[in-house]
Amino acid sequence: MDKMRIRGGKTLSGTVQASGSKNAALPILISSLLSEGACNFSRVPNLQDIRTTLKLLEQMGVKVQNDLQKNRVCLEAKTVSQFEAPYDLVRTMRASVVVLGPLLARFGKAKVSLPGGCAIGARPINYHLTGLEKLGAQIELEGGYVIASAKRLQGARVAFEFPSVGATENVMMAAALAKGESILENCAREPEIIDLAGALRAMGAEIEGEGTEEIRIQGKDKLGGCDYPIMGDRIEAGTFLAGALMTGGAVRVEGLASTHLEAVLVKFEEAGAKIVRGDQFIELQSQGRAKALDITTQPFPGFPTDMQAQFMAIMAVADGASVVTETIFENRFMHVPELARLGADITVRGNTAMIRGQAKLIGAPLMATDLRASASLILGGLAAQGETVVNRIYHLDRGYERMEEKLSTLGADIERIS
Ligand code: EPU
Repeated sequence: MDKMRIRGGKTLSGTVQASGSKNAALPILISSLLSEGACNFSRVPNLQDIRTTLKLLEQMGVKVQNDLQKNRVCLEAKTVSQFEAPYDLVRTMRASVVVLGPLLARFGKAKVSLPGGCAIGARPINYHLTGLEKLGAQIELEGGYVIASAKRLQGARVAFEFPSVGATENVMMAAALAKGESILENCAREPEIIDLAGALRAMGAEIEGEGTEEIRIQGKDKLGGCDYPIMGDRIEAGTFLAGALMTGGAVRVEGLASTHLEAVLVKFEEAGAKIVRGDQFIELQSQGRAKALDITTQPFPGFPTDMQAQFMAIMAVADGASVVTETIFENRFMHVPELARLGADITVRGNTAMIRGQAKLIGAPLMATDLRASASLILGGLAAQGETVVNRIYHLDRGYERMEEKLSTLGADIERIS
């Protein structure tokens, strides 16, 4: 199992390119199941979760031309022979439950394993299922599987109980091939939803309102091929900027819209950093030790839960006491005991963590537990004095493309140990 060794205390500075967004790419690759033509996707990040998705699509009969080294993938779902996402796969990558909507809409059947709990929370899929039922799907649960069928999905009004990212994506994809108009209310407004709508539109779907609470979709009888570049990864970008702040550096991340990260940029400013916002770049210049600050995670446009762990690493070395309130996932504090091994002073009560900033952290061996927790441990290691070894970085590899390479370019002393 690979580890990451970091010798901390180096200042991060320079320019780095954002990779394509993992959380945009996953549903977009899956949306090729809706299309009868060839879907050419570029800027696809070369990540474990992406490779798992391609394997799933291939098993279903999708023709996969994989040029991930060049961040390109061509998917052709002219014929699909398997309509199942098996437990072993869904367990490792819960995003695969969004095959339900496209399979149902185009082929009228789907069998998808219930994902089960995961490290950061229970993460049920009830909003996905209720939404698909509103479009006319019949859904049964049997042997740990969702077994769904439909003659032809019918456009309908779907009001989500909560603006779930995955449920919005699943139902949006289903509605793209349903008969008639669908009006989705209380939708997730994340930039990844806008990117998925862009990809569906490139295939010929008729969608409006993405990025707002209400999305309207006129269902089509069929969708065709497309050429579509995936948007830049806002969470990867935010992680590099956090590294710059924690090490007293200055970093420019290129290849993403600063508006996608606005709630995070405001918090960097509150911590005392100078931010330059561009149409396709963001720059952070540290102005000295970060000031204490409070964050509460919220659906977009609020502060993203996927940046919570990284901000806790900032707070661990900030001047003063900070508070984190996590409202999206019920168990997303697993980085806390690991950050404590570096000397961080953190007290957790329920969904709130109080962090008393320390003047310095000292390197230590650490264990990664989930994707964003891993990122926070890497950040902790970059800021700590001495050597930090982060074990189990396969979690990190699920969501960060060549992270050690990119950090080295910025001046970090970091290496992968196989
Ligand atoms: N929820 C339900 N029922 C549902 C769906 C969601 O109760 O049917 C709950 C979840 O348990 C959670 C909350 O609603 O407590 C939010 O879940 P949401 O559906 O919005 O999240 P997701 O689609 O499962 C995506 C990202 C996550 C990111 C969240 C929130 C992908 C592949 N994953 O998950 O990314 O944290 O949105 O923004 O897009 C990550 O990249 O590290 C990651 C976990």
